Amino acid sequence: MSLGAARIVADQIRIKPKTVLGLATGSTPLGLYNELIKLHKNEGLDFSNVISFNLDEYIGLSEDHPQSYKTFMEKKLFSKINIKQKNIHIPNGNSFNNKECNKYESLIKSHDGIDLQILGIGSDGHIAFNEPSSSLGSRTRIKTLTQKTVNDNARFFDNISDVPKYAVTMGVGTIMEAKKILLLASGGSKAEPIAKAIEGPISSMCSASAIQMHPKTIVMIDEAAAKHLKEKDYYKWVYSNKIKLN
Ligand code: PGA
Repeated sequence: MSLGAARIVADQIRIKPKTVLGLATGSTPLGLYNELIKLHKNEGLDFSNVISFNLDEYIGLSEDHPQSYKTFMEKKLFSKINIKQKNIHIPNGNSFNNKECNKYESLIKSHDGIDLQILGIGSDGHIAFNEPSSSLGSRTRIKTLTQKTVNDNARFFDNISDVPKYAVTMGVGTIMEAKKILLLASGGSKAEPIAKAIEGPISSMCSASAIQMHPKTIVMIDEAAAKHLKEKDYYKWVYSNKIKLN
């Protein structure tokens, strides 16, 4: 999955060196980031013109906190490739008023939008931190995390009471404006949200289901995450009979 995803990202960067990437945090994209680092080191994949926008950031952690998404991105990807600091954008979890959120939206627009958005999916079906009942038209704003998300994220903190309860996040509407989306999921804990997102009704109760309305989304998942898909055999059939249109 990670290798396939890295090929898609690398092709995008080779075709358009000034690619605007939408990046995600969490366990899911780690393999992808490792593959991109390898491509940079071994094949010279050049990030010097790439511009990045991260999906979200916790509120209330300092930028250099070990669990801030800024620290995560720096450690897991940015410090190991040749992306320029000035081209990196992460919502500011310590300055999170409406003006700042609108500024983030304007900044994305000023770069002519996101070319390729990487997404994971939460066990409650969220994309970024768009928790159940998030408006499908939502923009960058503050969200209160569900208890499920707080529990899911507790594995990264010493104490559950240290897990932030709020985040600044791109909205579903923001994500849907990306020109291409690449959603990744692996493991049995993602089987239910993946089935809801791909085959369930489009609903704010599973913000990932909004991708059904997106014209260019690729979903890459493993067998465990595909377990509850009713049309799994059909998707495999489509993949093995893929026609190249251009
Ligand atoms: P994970 O998180 O990649 O750590 O499973 C995904 C998400 O919550 O969006």
